[in-house]
Amino acid sequence: MIIKLDIQRQRSSSEKPHIQSFSVDTDALASVAELLERINSEQIPDDPIQWERSCKQKKCGACAMVINGRPRLACDARVNEYPKGVIKLEPLKKFPVVCDLIVDRSIMFGHLKKLGAWLEGEAETRDNDISYEASRCLQCGCCLEVCPNFYPGGEFFGTAVLVPASRLIAQSPEEQKKRLYGEYGEHFYRGCGKSLSCKDICPAGIDTERLLVNSNAAAVWKRKYRKSKDSGPSE
Ligand code: SF4
Ligand code: SF4
Ligand code: FES
Repeated sequence: MIIKLDIQRQRSSSEKPHIQSFSVDTDALASVAELLERINSEQIPDDPIQWERSCKQKKCGACAMVINGRPRLACDARVNEYPKGVIKLEPLKKFPVVCDLIVDRSIMFGHLKKLGAWLEGEAETRDNDISYEASRCLQCGCCLEVCPNFYPGGEFFGTAVLVPASRLIAQSPEEQKKRLYGEYGEHFYRGCGKSLSCKDICPAGIDTERLLVNSNAAAVWKRKYRKSKDSGPSE
């Protein structure tokens, strides 16, 4: 089948983006990632489209981009999912464009750093199930793309940070938990509108709703409970 690809191109963030169109004769099971590789090698070897990839197996999150208006992994999007035969590729819109389909996702990693999202001391093992679910996050940023409450520079960090935070809340020693509860409340609980668009879009199929409920319960209700215990019975 013949597929038309409309690809947004932009040499740098200061340049105005434009669309370049290509036609590719392909089989229906080819991925968008394969089409990009073919276009680059067969049609424009001297001016290849810039895009990120590593595993090509839905494991690294590098190839996240907007495909026909929806954030997806290029190695996971198949031609047969687009029966009209037209596929539009754009970079993720919540991050600055570096070049063509490559964006700078460092804001996401900066938020993880700000949250102190690493384990101090021995991991507790009692909530392995939550930890496993959270460990599948690819840090692709697709959830931030669809989140109505996330914008770069804001205080709300979004699901890409909630997920590792949930893992830490589940695994951390009690002392580290106290600090995390505060950070979680400030950068996630207060800003999340619970629309759950992040759950439907996650290419790793992470049950973000479950992590949300679990972390809210731990970070918010435990804090309230502790406060009411500290201030004694209110008769
Ligand atoms: S939660 Fe899902 S969509 Fe968000 S960064 Fe992790 S893998 Fe990507
Ligand atoms: S539930 Fe809605 S507001 Fe909260 S992180 Fe997910 S998409 Fe954003
Ligand atoms: S290249 Fe790793 S997820 Fe697509």
